[in-house]
Amino acid sequence: MSPLIKPYPLHRSRRLRRTSWIRDMVSEHSASISDLIWPVFICDGFNKKESIVSLPGVYRYSIDQVTEVAKEAIDLGINCLALFPYTPADLKNPECTEAWNPDNLVNKATRAIKKHTPNLGILLDVALDPYNSDGHDGLLRESEILNDETLIALEKQALTQASCGADILGPSDMMDGRVGIIRQALESKGYKDTLIMSYSAKFASSFYGPFRDAVGASGYLSGDKKTYQIDCANLEESIRETALDVSEGADMVMVKPGLPYLDVCMAIKRRLNVPTFAYQVSGEYAMIESAHLNGFINRDLILLETLLSFKRAGCDGVLTYYAPEIAKLLDKK
Ligand code: PBG
Repeated sequence: MSPLIKPYPLHRSRRLRRTSWIRDMVSEHSASISDLIWPVFICDGFNKKESIVSLPGVYRYSIDQVTEVAKEAIDLGINCLALFPYTPADLKNPECTEAWNPDNLVNKATRAIKKHTPNLGILLDVALDPYNSDGHDGLLRESEILNDETLIALEKQALTQASCGADILGPSDMMDGRVGIIRQALESKGYKDTLIMSYSAKFASSFYGPFRDAVGASGYLSGDKKTYQIDCANLEESIRETALDVSEGADMVMVKPGLPYLDVCMAIKRRLNVPTFAYQVSGEYAMIESAHLNGFINRDLILLETLLSFKRAGCDGVLTYYAPEIAKLLDKK
């Protein structure tokens, strides 16, 4: 204990908690709408809003609908959407060619959103899994995920996304060297202002299950992703991975999943001091939402508490499916 702090009764901690104005005055962290990035799923077709069984309250929108979602984000004060595709089965193959099709769902959606709401930031995942008939983030040969061959595909995917107007690219597949390859490609093709938010500390987690349903990848994936995502026991490795991504040209970094990995967020922020984000992933959403639907918790209070927890751990912002709900709650406060 600091020698400045005198024991009770000279020091009474509760004096600083007596009223809401004093609590506000001494609060160490705050959350705001500008901390939020809203992940949104996109599907084929017109005038569609499909529900996702394992993510109640989250939908897949067709492109005409996603432009409405973008307007809603602007109205709510949300700065950025992260777009993910539900790729039709006939467009998936082992080479993942749909990943660099300028007319794939996320690229088309990016162009449509930029046309109507140019000031809304767009973040696109650079990873092959939504396009891979093998379900993995990398190209698969026999039972091996190929690293260097995957990089060639990622480079094509990233350049196409940048050319369609994506503001931020999010390499999310944990292949070695991906950030460097993407940064060099962007630089050489004149996309010097395209941001990279690398999923630098992405763990081989079981919290991604509902997301894989949402993008239609679950049925294709055999085995797990442990040969490329980080072992959930490893903190030092996650800091090393993040430092590498920064050295390769990432502007911002991300920890994923979120709440179970707050120690990782804090260590990265303290040791590397770079813009740090957390992804409150689909499994976290599903846990909170199912407890809410059962009437077991006060969801709104829990959402604000989780956002503050991320801020306290040093995060600059959070990707969360709850972004619109949280924005409404913060607006009321
Ligand atoms: C794909 C990707 C995943 C998520 C974001 N990008 C899934 C995975 O790695 O299997 C998960 C997001 C979530 O669970 O909400 N590279």
